[in-house]
This record gives sequence, structure tokens and C-alpha cells, in this order.
Amino acid sequence: MFRRESTRRNIGAGQRVKPTVNGNVMHKLPQHLAVIMDGNGRWAQRRGLPRSEGHARGVDVVRSLLTRCRALGIPYVTVYALSRENLKRPPQEVRFLFDLFIRFLKSELPELERQGIRLGMIGDRNALPLPVRTALDYGIKKTSGGDMLFTLALAYSGREEIMRAARTLAASLPNGDTSPEEQEAVFRRGLYNPELPDPDLIIRTGGELRLSNFLLFQSAYAELYFSDRLWPDFDDAELNRALAHYAGRTRRFGLTEEQLAAAPAPSSPGHGHNTPPDATG
Ligand code: FPP
Repeated sequence: MFRRESTRRNIGAGQRVKPTVNGNVMHKLPQHLAVIMDGNGRWAQRRGLPRSEGHARGVDVVRSLLTRCRALGIPYVTVYALSRENLKRPPQEVRFLFDLFIRFLKSELPELERQGIRLGMIGDRNALPLPVRTALDYGIKKTSGGDMLFTLALAYSGREEIMRAARTLAASLPNGDTSPEEQEAVFRRGLYNPELPDPDLIIRTGGELRLSNFLLFQSAYAELYFSDRLWPDFDDAELNRALAHYAGRTRRFGLTEEQLAAAPAPSSPGHGHNTPPDATG
């Protein structure tokens, strides 16, 4: 289960310890790490096991990921646990996944609470069966005191989220004389969780090079790390590689090096809910 490591950085209170990866101090960690956990089915099939075994193994990897992120002091972690499109998979697989989420939500709560990790959810709640919604609501309430946010993307579709936010914007703007910044602020209020900052780093496992409808609006300036590892094989060493990749990137948010040197850009546009001017690069 989760271990409290000596490198853990307390978020928002007390002394902060510099996180290290492979003995090197990580000067730049993502504040919001989002993960597309792909490859469970292949992992299982390659071993002659039912796909469900891959999903079950995937839960263990989620636990390890949370432990490591907690230790490093990454305050936001979001995992793509079920897309809207995944709901069209064979009913028995979907049922298995729902049961897995319910079991996870029940069994992990004490540990999440102990670790100060609060649960969140993005996605279409109404597409989830009542027992999943009930377990989610209970878990979210029970862990609400935590200072690290662990978000499950369930029945999630980036396009649908954008449509939803667009409807919010359309409904609240009677005329067109609001500034683009104000319009974006209103638009963001229509996202599933407007308080969730944009992801700084998105990791996708399983070897595919696509976003598959994940955080489409919020990923505008995310750094991307694609791993050939199947999700059940994703471990701390691979996470370290992804974090090292992130730490080595210069994020310009469409500005020039000179502009950045004069006035550093925000760590991510979504962190301050401000968009960089002429964000084309
Ligand atoms: C994609 O792999 C993965 C999923 C659709 C489910 C992801 C769910 C988990 C890892 C369980 C997480 C559970 C909790 C509680 C957070 P795939 O089945 O599409 O793999 P494939 O591409 O090899 O077929």
C-alpha cells in the first residue's frame, strides 16, 4: 500500500524537502501529472490471461504511482480510468471495470485519507451505474480533507467536456462585448472540475501516440511522454524517466526565450487561468 517516504514534500505546510529522482534533485516537477493507462488488455493476453487480469494488475500500478507522486509532492494526479468510448466494450469487461472501481474506492479510502490524498472525478456521472456513483460520492466526501488531489476520469470524453463548457459559455453571455479572457474564465467554469489546473505532463503507456479524447482543452501546453511499457509494467523507473524528460523541457507557452527571460511565464496557462498571448508555439 502507500508508504510515507522521507522525501515527501508537505504541500501547503511545513518544511519542503527537495524531491530526488535517481539521486538527482528534481528542480522542475509537474504540478499536475495526467496519465493515460493503456495496455492492460495486451499485458494479459500476452500471458494467456483474461483481459480483466490486466485491469486488476493496473490497479496495483495506480497505487504505486500515487505513493511515488505523494512522496515527490506532485499535488495533482489524474488517471484516465474509463473513457466514454470504453463503455461500448463488451458488457462483461465494462461490468468488471465498474466492480474494480467500486472495490478500489472502498478498500483504499483509509490509506488515501491517511496519506492526505483527496479523491475527485471528472466525466459523465450519469453514464455510471448507481453503485459506482455512490462509492465515488462517499470516497470524495471521506477524503475531502486531503491536500493532494487524485482525480479519476470516468466515462470521460474531452470533446463532450468542451461541448459542455461551450454550452455554459453560451448560456451566460447574453452579448458579445466581454473580453476573450472573461469568456475563457466562464468557459472554464463549465469544465468538469474548473479548479483542476491544466496538466503539465501527460504520460501515455502502451506505445500509442495519441490523446484518445483525454483533456483535449486542458492539454494545450502539456508536455507529452509516450512510453512503450504496457500499463501493468509501468514502474517507478519509467516514471522517473518521464519526470526527467519533463524536467529537461523548456516551456515557452508560445513566447520567445527573450520574453521568458524578462518575465517568466506561468508554470501552465491553466494554473492561473490565463492564456499566453498569441500562443502558437
Ligand atoms: C486501457 O487498457 C485501460 C482501461 C480501459 C482501463 C484502465 C483501468 C485501470 C488501469 C484500472 C484503474 C483502476 C483504478 C481504480 C484507478 P486497454 O484495456 O485498452 O489495453 P489494450 O490497449 O492492451 O487493449
